[in-house]
Amino acid sequence: MTTRTGYSRTQIVLHWLTAIAVLVAWFTHEGMEEVAKAAWRANEGPFPTIHTIAGALAMIMIIVRIVLRHRRGAPEPEGTEMGKLAATWGHRLIYALVIIVPLLGAATWFGGFRNLSGFHEFTAKALMLAALGHAAMAIWHQFGKKDGTLMRMLRPE
Ligand code: HEM
Ligand code: HEM
Repeated sequence: MTTRTGYSRTQIVLHWLTAIAVLVAWFTHEGMEEVAKAAWRANEGPFPTIHTIAGALAMIMIIVRIVLRHRRGAPEPEGTEMGKLAATWGHRLIYALVIIVPLLGAATWFGGFRNLSGFHEFTAKALMLAALGHAAMAIWHQFGKKDGTLMRMLRPE
């Protein structure tokens, strides 16, 4: 992968759209259990809800970002060697979860694997925790360490 001095406009726009899609999926999960159960009872095909659309969009966008990261490159994380390692693996964890959570949601939804809904919920909570920690680190880097990390996700280079 090429190391760059900054993220492209496309990478930045996709970062914030993914963040919004994940948050929309998180805040629209209420009632999904009832909607899914009603569809299974009526033996109806699944129909899209805001929750499933937002979740699916988040997954598609994060996959595009992984491809872009490999094709175009990305900047190295800022900080000490330990900090860089933590950022790299933290980002990998978020990438993985934004794929795993919607897949488990889709397996519950389309496949009716009701026993998977617990895993969907558990991994979704792990994703939100990771994203919260990620946002806190970004803010701390920007305003505590003043190393301009947050600006990298705002200003294309
Ligand atoms: C980043 C994306 C997503 C997040 C953060 C997320 C989060 C959640 C959360 C927190 C719940 C509540 C779990 C519970 O109380 O049992 C839930 C339920 C559910 N979600 Fe998602 N979800 C996402 C994507 C999806 C997608 C893409 C689908 C389907 C295509 C989906 C289908 C469902 C279903 C069917 C339920 C109800 C499961 C049940 O409790 O029976 N989700 N989701
Ligand atoms: C659910 C929401 C979010 C997700 C899924 C997410 C995901 C990611 C991922 C995967 C990266 C790594 C980019 C790369 O490959 O180099 C990243 C970078 C970044 N994110 Fe987020 N993010 C979210 C929310 C936020 C929020 C709320 C903030 C700010 C408060 C933020 C600030 C940043 C910054 C500054 C970087 C660049 C870090 C660097 O270059 O070292 N993110 N984000």
